[in-house]
Amino acid sequence: MLNELERLETAAREELGSAGSAAELETWRVRYLGKKSVLTGALRSLAALPAEERKTLGARANAVKMDLQTRYAEKQESLSLDSIDQSLGRAALDVTLPGRPALYGRLHPITQVFHEICAVFSHMGFQVIEGPEVERDYYNFEALNIPQDHPARDMFATLWIDTAQSRDSRLLRTHTSPMQVRLMEKQKPPLRFIVPGRTYRYEATDATHDWMFHQVEGLAVDSDITLRDLKETLFEFCRGIFGRDTGVRFRCDYFPFVEPGGEVSIECVQCKGAGCRLCKGSGWLEILGCGMVYPNVLSGCGIDPTVYSGFAFGMGVERITILRHGVDDIRHFYSGDFRFLRQF
Ligand code: PHE
Repeated sequence: MLNELERLETAAREELGSAGSAAELETWRVRYLGKKSVLTGALRSLAALPAEERKTLGARANAVKMDLQTRYAEKQESLSLDSIDQSLGRAALDVTLPGRPALYGRLHPITQVFHEICAVFSHMGFQVIEGPEVERDYYNFEALNIPQDHPARDMFATLWIDTAQSRDSRLLRTHTSPMQVRLMEKQKPPLRFIVPGRTYRYEATDATHDWMFHQVEGLAVDSDITLRDLKETLFEFCRGIFGRDTGVRFRCDYFPFVEPGGEVSIECVQCKGAGCRLCKGSGWLEILGCGMVYPNVLSGCGIDPTVYSGFAFGMGVERITILRHGVDDIRHFYSGDFRFLRQF
């Protein structure tokens, strides 16, 4: 009997040690301390023993029982502490971690440059106005000195909406210049406007061409406007956008609706005039076309060219953005690629 008690004690201690959960501990308790356990049975059977044996065995059995009860209580406590630790671990919130950054929306780079261009001209007294993207042949070409079959139509590969050729045929405007005519038809001088907007050309796309792009048109008409006003206004614009000490240049160029016509270039942003691949070795980058409004364009809009004169200009916004930020491909702008757009 004594031996049996000893074996029981060793087994009970071992099993208790390996109990890892509340359920296992409960199984252990039923087996070793429950009403039907071997130990309880042994204690109960003591009554039938002779007094001498009962005394020693009884004391021993009680000692074992008490020892196991204490160990049981200890184990119970340590298991519940473990489970508290575990649940704390699961719900842990490290308040020192940096938060997840919220993704902010932002203005498209072309919109940002639009705003900059409009700001520079607003300071010089120009009003900002927009016009239709679907135009008539008349406004896009005819009123601008480009009648049917004029070779200058080749300068503008056109996306037509109507196929029949007439002055009313609809097309996607190839430049913002039709707004010169619309403005002069509606308002009489003095007038000073810029027109930001989308333009379209029927063109194969590559790194520097897209079939949709943006322009800003400018128009100033008054009784004493000269080529000098044109040059100073545009030079001031270039310095406002590209920096005060950027070199600027004016040269003659041809556009049917201006005379004289010109182009304005800035010193190459990459090589500063030394000559590189970007400026094709010339040291200069052309950024806009311009000129004095052709007299019969004025008279076609009901403005007397013997009293009034004006200047006009048009620039590509993608090109200016590309040069300002060193973008290598015009197609990035409309690819919808956040890795590109988020840099601005
Ligand atoms: N509309 C011309 C173009 O798209 C630019 C221009 C505008 C030239 C006004 C002269 C005057 O190329």
